[in-house]
Amino acid sequence: MRIPLIAGNWKMNTTIEEAVALVGNLLKELDKIDNVEKLVCPPFISLRAVSEIVAKSSVKVGSQNMHYEEKGAFTGEVSPLMIKDICSYVIIGHSERRQYFNDDSYINSKIKAAIKYGIAPILCVGEKAEENQQGKTNEVLERQLEQALTGIDDIVNLVIAYEPIWAIGTGISASGKQANQTIDLIRQKISSLYNKQIALNVRILYGGSANADNIAEFMCQPQIDGALVGGASLKPEQFISMLKQTSSIYYDIKK
Ligand code: PGA
Repeated sequence: MRIPLIAGNWKMNTTIEEAVALVGNLLKELDKIDNVEKLVCPPFISLRAVSEIVAKSSVKVGSQNMHYEEKGAFTGEVSPLMIKDICSYVIIGHSERRQYFNDDSYINSKIKAAIKYGIAPILCVGEKAEENQQGKTNEVLERQLEQALTGIDDIVNLVIAYEPIWAIGTGISASGKQANQTIDLIRQKISSLYNKQIALNVRILYGGSANADNIAEFMCQPQIDGALVGGASLKPEQFISMLKQTSSIYYDIKK
């Protein structure tokens, strides 16, 4: 059985002080929630402080990005070696990274590096609004998955996040049914790239304007194993409610 994962992507928000305060507000309530993996992904500069605060709890820390090299002349970058002791997860290929930082070309190398250093990659895939309107969603996702996973045999710790770009930060989420259908296709693609058992085990999250009001709609879908949450993860009440709802709904549906 797959264990749901709710991941908060804080993006480029919070100073160190604010990050410490935010995780402080989340910690007590999150730590009480069972059967759901709880993850916060603050900016690089706050990873250390946040990881010290959650150290004795069930809350995990993830990075929003990383370089694929261990060290070297890459001014401004942060390596897997530098984060591996404090991060359980790393988000790779977020659409904002693909759009503004040309990440498309590095995703495969970053996933390989994450696996090598024992950091579980959360691979983001998703189509643009126009691709969706032109009926190209499947084609785009298949291409993104093939490119990201080329030459990677072991995906035991990999998590996939399906994030339609038109839903990110827009307040317009996909419907539960739509997301479920697309995630089913992603699972089929994983089955064809690997095998049926691996496809059944891989966790696939939904992301894009997920919040406390719509999380139940996603969590009751058979294919969806959690959420990658942007805006709502900065609001403790929202995020805690999303975790609580996931914990109570997810296991009612056999996944
Ligand atoms: P959002 O962001 O929840 O604010 O739409 C999701 C994401 O970018 O991961």
